[in-house]
Amino acid sequence: MDAMSLILGLESSCDETAAALVTSDRQILAHKLAGQEDAHRPYGGVVPEIAARAHVEVLAPLVEAALAEAGVTLAEVDAIAATAGPGLIGGVMVGLMTGKALALAAGKPLVAVNHLEGHALSPRLADATLDFPYLLLLVSGGHCQLLLVEGVGRYRRLATTIDDAAGEAFDKTAKLLRLGFPGGPAVERAAALGDPRAVPLPRPLVGSGEPHFSFAGLKSAVARAANDYSPEDLAASFQQAVVDCLVDRTRRALAGIAPTALVVAGGVAANKAVRAALEALAAEHGLRFVAPPLWLCTDNAAMIAWAGAERFAAGWTDPLDIPPRPRWPLDPDAEQVRGAGVKA
Ligand code: KG4
Ligand code: ZN
Repeated sequence: MDAMSLILGLESSCDETAAALVTSDRQILAHKLAGQEDAHRPYGGVVPEIAARAHVEVLAPLVEAALAEAGVTLAEVDAIAATAGPGLIGGVMVGLMTGKALALAAGKPLVAVNHLEGHALSPRLADATLDFPYLLLLVSGGHCQLLLVEGVGRYRRLATTIDDAAGEAFDKTAKLLRLGFPGGPAVERAAALGDPRAVPLPRPLVGSGEPHFSFAGLKSAVARAANDYSPEDLAASFQQAVVDCLVDRTRRALAGIAPTALVVAGGVAANKAVRAALEALAAEHGLRFVAPPLWLCTDNAAMIAWAGAERFAAGWTDPLDIPPRPRWPLDPDAEQVRGAGVKA
């Protein structure tokens, strides 16, 4: 049995600044998070420059607060894990540079974590019994992918989006329907008051022989119907269409593999309709269904610390000159698919 290690995790790749302390035996000693919703709300979306400046202001105090809450000092930390991409480059630079500075000052190893790997492994932080390989539906604001998670650092991409990410579609729909920001939760709230069968909307690529996702046509169809239906009915019908797409594409992927479980992660996994439909799909296949708790689905630093813990246990650390990366696919062998959902 390996000795227990303590990892400090940093996250700053989009619009959440976060620091967390997590142990290799899955204790979350502290997780601190500062959202930036108020700063971005006037623009109806995340403004990269504003995001980067906000990360600079709050990351160091969050690290201090996390250490205080956990009752540990930097000297007691075994490694520092920081998101090194993909994401908005200004924010990624803030977090990675902070991680490097702390690693250098405290004489600790640095683990550069792929943000997507943070999401991909987060279900194993919440559930010690989740074994490889599992099929992961990773649905966030920047990504919509089906990945066979074969081990730490071993991800086979089975499908991705050819245009928008699912969360991006939620965000754009919320903006179009003037439901508020951030978009996903706003659409979910409005959808609860509407009829999912009210508006006839397309299900792009459903039933198609190709494995990928597409949401751009759905978003345009919502725009065309916007004047003829209530926002609640539009939101409910949109959400149902997204759910149908996610389920159909995941069912297709399941046909060719034998995973231990169906797992969902990423911000859109916080959506209760999405979770319920995937749970039913897993049951249909006699598979375990695993979804991290809601707070662990959206961006946070505990998932980065945990991915850092898994990499550190494998003996993988990174040099201090490792560069921040705006794009960083989890499966380097996967073919490039046009437009594959990368945040602006
Ligand atoms: O993983 P995440 O926090 O950040 C990225 O790495 O993208 O995901 C954020 C995305 C946003 O597009 C947000 O609208 C969406 O997840 N989201 C939701 C819900 N909560 C967050 N989408 C649908 N329903 C929700 N309840
Ligand atoms: Zn994310």
